[in-house]
Amino acid sequence: MGLDLGSQVLKAIEITLEGPEPVVTGFARVEIPPGGDRAQALAEVFKQGRFRSKHVVTSISGQNVVVRYVSMPKMSDSELRQAIRMEADRYVPFDLDESTLDCQPLKRRVAKSAEDGAPEGDTMSVLLVACRTQSLEEQIQQVLAQGLTTVAIDVDAFALANAWELCGLPDDEPAEGDTPRTEERAIAMVDIGATRTSINVLCGGETCFSREIGIGGHDMTQAVARRLGVEVFEAEAIKRNPQGQEVEVTRAIQPVLEDLTSEISLSLDYVEHHEGLRVEELLLSGGGVLASGAQSYIEQATARTTRTWNPLEGLRIAVDRVDVEELEAWAPSLVVAVGLASRVRAA
Ligand SMILES: Nc1ncnc2c1ncn2[C@@H]1O[C@H](COP(=O)(O)OP(=O)(O)OP(=O)(O)O)[C@@H](O)[C@H]1O
Ligand SMILES: [Mg+2]
Repeated sequence: MGLDLGSQVLKAIEITLEGPEPVVTGFARVEIPPGGDRAQALAEVFKQGRFRSKHVVTSISGQNVVVRYVSMPKMSDSELRQAIRMEADRYVPFDLDESTLDCQPLKRRVAKSAEDGAPEGDTMSVLLVACRTQSLEEQIQQVLAQGLTTVAIDVDAFALANAWELCGLPDDEPAEGDTPRTEERAIAMVDIGATRTSINVLCGGETCFSREIGIGGHDMTQAVARRLGVEVFEAEAIKRNPQGQEVEVTRAIQPVLEDLTSEISLSLDYVEHHEGLRVEELLLSGGGVLASGAQSYIEQATARTTRTWNPLEGLRIAVDRVDVEELEAWAPSLVVAVGLASRVRAA
């Protein structure tokens, strides 16, 4: 079960392997009302979902986690596990005694600027993730309190890529006579949530850059509330269903989209400069992308092919266990949950 504990919406997707085929066998989505109780909402998720699995993969994001791409001398996995704690001291802003670390060697080398002048053959890129142990434990407790087990804790940005891989939507097969797609194709996955936007840029299918921006759908709601002089809960409803107030809503959210897009563009520029390749496509997800005009604004402002994607495309759904209409309606906001559940393949 992939459990995405979003700041506004809790989402859970259960994927079961039937032979080699992943099948969606459970789904629940519960919004936390303003001032509402998260624990109560979580209990509601499990009530709604009637999940069979007791194994949960969840994720962390926000200020309690840092992700760094570091260059290190080539070494074995066990040596790396030893060495990473020393190295982490340079990159992690938390007290290491109160942090939990993980790392993964990457196939690509890190951005050139991070190099220390060592000869190319002697170094490797390592993805380093550090998180405050306390926040990790709180997360695990929430799951345990429901009588379930946590099998892994991921980071939102990486779950995006796992969902992409699961859906097998990657590169189109080159047609006969076409130049084959190079390993070096770069795409940016951008998930616009309520309070933050996660970016993960994939180069040749592997992460080469990830980042969180503290802007999301909630900022759009607040902008609508200010412009129309209404309460936040009313603004939320109007934003989703403007009914005659389309122009006002579009005007209100425009500055938020501008700020968000300029941050996205900065990230794309950074990647392109350091990796020496063009980010060809933006794959959008998250509830925030449903805001009227958001996708087309981002497409125009970044001057890149942009689409909102459905992580369920190509996946079989157990129609007797899942409300398919509801699932499809919220599909773009379920990417993280699907990515988390995709770990069933590695179980
Ligand atoms: N039809 C819609 N139009 C505009 N915005 C929408 C619509 N439906 C949902 N949203 C917005 O989507 C956001 C919630 O999306 P999502 O479920 O991805 O967030 P989250 O995962 O809870 O947040 P975060 O990732 O920031 O913790 C809210 O800001 C909500 O207002
Ligand atoms: Mg989210």
